[in-house]
Amino acid sequence: MVWIHDVVERHSVFMNPMKPEKFLGLARRLGLCSASHVLEIGAGRGGPAMFLASEFGCVVTAVEPHEPFIADGRSRVEGAGLSDLVSFVHSDARSFEVALETYDAAFCLGATFAYDGLVGTLDALAPGVRSGGYVVAGEPYDIGHGMHPWSLPEIFERFEERLLPVAWFVRSSVDEWDEYTSVHLHDLLTWSIEHPEDGEDVDRRRREQVDALREPYIGWAVVAGRKA
Ligand SMILES: C[S@@+](CC[C@H](N)C(=O)[O-])C[C@H]1O[C@@H](n2cnc3c(N)ncnc32)[C@H](O)[C@@H]1O
Repeated sequence: MVWIHDVVERHSVFMNPMKPEKFLGLARRLGLCSASHVLEIGAGRGGPAMFLASEFGCVVTAVEPHEPFIADGRSRVEGAGLSDLVSFVHSDARSFEVALETYDAAFCLGATFAYDGLVGTLDALAPGVRSGGYVVAGEPYDIGHGMHPWSLPEIFERFEERLLPVAWFVRSSVDEWDEYTSVHLHDLLTWSIEHPEDGEDVDRRRREQVDALREPYIGWAVVAGRKA
C-alpha cells in the first residue's frame, strides 16, 4: 500500500492548502519569540516548522511518522541553518507523549486524522500547552454539503467547549484550495504512470479527489484557541 502523502505531497514542503504568507498572519498573533517552544504533530517535511523557527526564532519539535519526510526535512533544516531550532521526532502522533504544560503553541495542520479528528486532537494537545499558550489546528470544514463533520462555527464551538476560546483564524481561499487539489491530481497522475504497480490504489485516490470537486469548494481553515 502506497503512503499517500508520498504521492500527493511529493513536491510540497508546505503540505496544506494555505500560502505561508497567510499562515504568517495567524502565527504573528501567537506571540512566539526566541524563548518559545512549539510542538507540531504530523510535521511532514517540516515546512511550517522551519517557517515558524526562521520567522520567530522559536524552538520547534516536529513529530512525523514517515521516515522519508523526516530525512528530507532534516536535510532542509540543516541547509537552512536551523538545526539548533528544529528537531524531528520519528513517531506516530498517538505514540508521542505530549509533556504537560510544556509548549507555548501546539500545531496540527492537515493531520488531525492522526487523533481521529479535531476533537481528539484538541484533547491530545491542550494538556501540553501552558496557560496562555495556543492550540492550533488546520482543518477542513463543511460548507453545507455534509462532506466534513463540522462547519467553521462548529469547529469554533469544539475549541470553546474545551476552554480554548478562538483567538485568531485564517481561511484558505478558493484559489489556494484549487492549487492544492491540482497539485494532488497532477502528482497522482504522474505517480500512476511511473509506478504502475500502485495503479489501483492511486487511481482510487484520484477518483476521490475528482469526486470531491463536485462541490465548488471545500473549506479549510487554521484556527488558534488560547488556553485559559
Ligand atoms: C497533509 S500532511 C501535513 C504536513 C504538515 N503539517 C504541513 O502542513 O506541511 C499530513 C502529515 O501527517 C503525517 N501523518 C500521517 N499519519 C500520521 C500519524 N498517525 N501521526 C502523525 N502524523 C501522521 C503524514 O506523514 C504527513 O506528513
